[in-house]
Amino acid sequence: MDVKTLLHHLRKELESIGHEHESREILENLFKRDISYLYAHDDLVVDQNILKRLEEVIEARKLGQPLAYIFNKRSFYGRDFFVNSSVLIPRLETEFSIQELLKLPGNSFLELGIGSGCVSITMKLERPSLSVDGVDISDQAIQVAGLNAKKHLAQVHFFKSNLFEKVTPSYDLIYSNPPYIKTKDMDDLEDEVKKYEPHLALNGGEDGLDFYKKIIKNTPDYLNKTGYLVLEIGYNQKEEIFALLDAIHFTGKCIQDYGGHDRVIIATRRK
Ligand SMILES: C[S@@+](CC[C@H](N)C(=O)[O-])C[C@H]1O[C@@H](n2cnc3c(N)ncnc32)[C@H](O)[C@@H]1O
Repeated sequence: MDVKTLLHHLRKELESIGHEHESREILENLFKRDISYLYAHDDLVVDQNILKRLEEVIEARKLGQPLAYIFNKRSFYGRDFFVNSSVLIPRLETEFSIQELLKLPGNSFLELGIGSGCVSITMKLERPSLSVDGVDISDQAIQVAGLNAKKHLAQVHFFKSNLFEKVTPSYDLIYSNPPYIKTKDMDDLEDEVKKYEPHLALNGGEDGLDFYKKIIKNTPDYLNKTGYLVLEIGYNQKEEIFALLDAIHFTGKCIQDYGGHDRVIIATRRK
């Protein structure tokens, strides 16, 4: 089979499952070439191993497996991160958190719930003087985040902890994108998310606020006097989270993402 025939075959298969926009990512991963190279050399005969892998990818995709898990890779803030089904696939919205975090002053950073490590590692690479610690309750997540730190030569300290449990105070910046889906809404998630992404990274308890409540309650003990608590939130959680912050005498602002949804809360002690 030549490249041209393969492109046609892949397009038809992806169209049948409504994922035609994914052909570029699949082709570039399979051939380890830019798509423009393939278009320019569409008469080349395709290697049997690539054909075999292509069929595996199509089958996995038909079952609903996310591309990021099929290729063990997702790009975040311009860098590739290793991912597998034990960590949340880094989201575009979370890149927005990075942009906000980078505007804040501070020398030390703590992330609660690192997943793939994409946020902590990006913070370290974008601001090398920052001292970066990150925790997760999942051993597998710590392992994946460690691999990513190594891959990007990022000097960060990742360790296992149930939120603040093993953390030593104190930090200038504390960040979390915790699980925040209400338990009763877990069933309504897209199949791709529900069947493949770790529920430990998604389920935020009965009202979706379990983690925010615990994080906010303990933040005064772990945040320096002029430090910032930065939280990624669900689009409809702003008011409830502001009420929790008010109870610890913190004040904050909420920033909307590019889609116009409330996304990031930045909070400090009330003066
Ligand atoms: C929504 S994911 C965010 C991952 C990563 N920060 C990102 O944005 O891609 C939440 C993470 O919190 C972790 N987590 C869940 N419960 C936790 C707990 N009690 N203590 C620490 N981490 C926890 C999960 O394992 C998961 O990696």
